[in-house]
Amino acid sequence: MRAWQVVRHGRPSEALELCDVEPAKPGPGQILVKARASVLNYNEVDGCHGRYLTIDPPLPYTLGMECVGEVVAAGPGEEAWLGRQVTTSGFGAVGAHADLVLASSAMTFDIPPGLSDVEAAAFFYPFHLAHLGLFERGRLQAGETVLVHAAAGGVGSAAVQLAVAAGAEVIATVGSDAKAQLVRNLGAQHLINYRAADFAEAALEITQGKGVDVCFDGVGGDVMLQSLRCLARGGRHLTIGFASGIEAEEVPLVTGRMLCFGNFDMLGVILAYTPPEISGKIAGASGMPVPRFNPPTTDIAQSVQQSLLSLLAARKIRPIVGATVPFEELPAALEEMEARQTSGRIVLLR
Ligand SMILES: NC(=O)c1ccc[n+]([C@@H]2O[C@H](COP(=O)([O-])OP(=O)(O)OC[C@H]3O[C@@H](n4cnc5c(N)ncnc54)[C@H](OP(=O)(O)O)[C@@H]3O)[C@@H](O)[C@H]2O)c1
Repeated sequence: MRAWQVVRHGRPSEALELCDVEPAKPGPGQILVKARASVLNYNEVDGCHGRYLTIDPPLPYTLGMECVGEVVAAGPGEEAWLGRQVTTSGFGAVGAHADLVLASSAMTFDIPPGLSDVEAAAFFYPFHLAHLGLFERGRLQAGETVLVHAAAGGVGSAAVQLAVAAGAEVIATVGSDAKAQLVRNLGAQHLINYRAADFAEAALEITQGKGVDVCFDGVGGDVMLQSLRCLARGGRHLTIGFASGIEAEEVPLVTGRMLCFGNFDMLGVILAYTPPEISGKIAGASGMPVPRFNPPTTDIAQSVQQSLLSLLAARKIRPIVGATVPFEELPAALEEMEARQTSGRIVLLR
């Protein structure tokens, strides 16, 4: 089968080669999906460069976190998935930019009713991650203010829609005026081009000095640090990702004094649904330099999916597809993402 493999580290066009590889055989907790579409995720840019510690398998490996397709084989105990049309994540968050994808059943959902393959591809990760962040971790309430960074991106555009649907007031940052228009159309009340203005000052002005209740931050680094200047008492900062430089993942930026004086919460969010019997018990197994790995459990996955299906049915949220790209053009599409040229989700079609 065809698979886009990282064969050396570098820019996506240097790192990736389209290879012919043997498909994997699903084991316990796994299924095999014949993919019709896969999706670009910013983490894959870092994967090509070899600077993403969380997912750093030995070379060569097949890139890709998310796909849509039909389940064509199932491991022991997973037979109920056979023949179903699903959105899923490559096992270990790799392998999705291939014709056949080994996936974890804990990260698999039926394609929501009424969504095309492309829409379904753009739906799963952004909305689950944004929901986990805003509500399970961030405790966002109607009437609160939320600052969403990279709001025109795949994950950011989902966070804007969920916050608006929940009755929150959204202050969105974007890197260009064209992106601002997209986010305004999603219902964000305030737009800031954070390349042109001091977003923390602007957010303080909008909230009349109080600061924002929640900050949804997929950019990290200096943007994270500056965000603490405009976080309200009792505010919640959500660390979603590090698009401005994954190296910041390992840099201790926040001190105890900042937390005491700020009276706010720093919260981490990871989308990696795991059976309850495993969550919290696999620290160190993957060699990750973390003291403990506490991924959300599959019962949380089901409750998030039900909430999202209700919002979809009520047309309060919709997947944002920035572009569809032929399978052969993955490296160029990832380089566009790295250059901050993309918005919404970029879907790779077979
Ligand atoms: N926690 C988890 O489980 C998890 C899972 C998946 C993804 N993520 C993270 O979620 C975040 C969003 O992912 P996505 O796939 O939806 O990406 P995305 O937001 O569509 O693309 C990244 C965006 O980040 C902004 N950005 C700000 N500074 C940047 C810089 N120096 N270089 C490049 N981009 C910069 C750009 O938007 P502007 O031009 O508007 O600034 C860019 O378009 C990423 O950090 C990703 O790693 C986290």
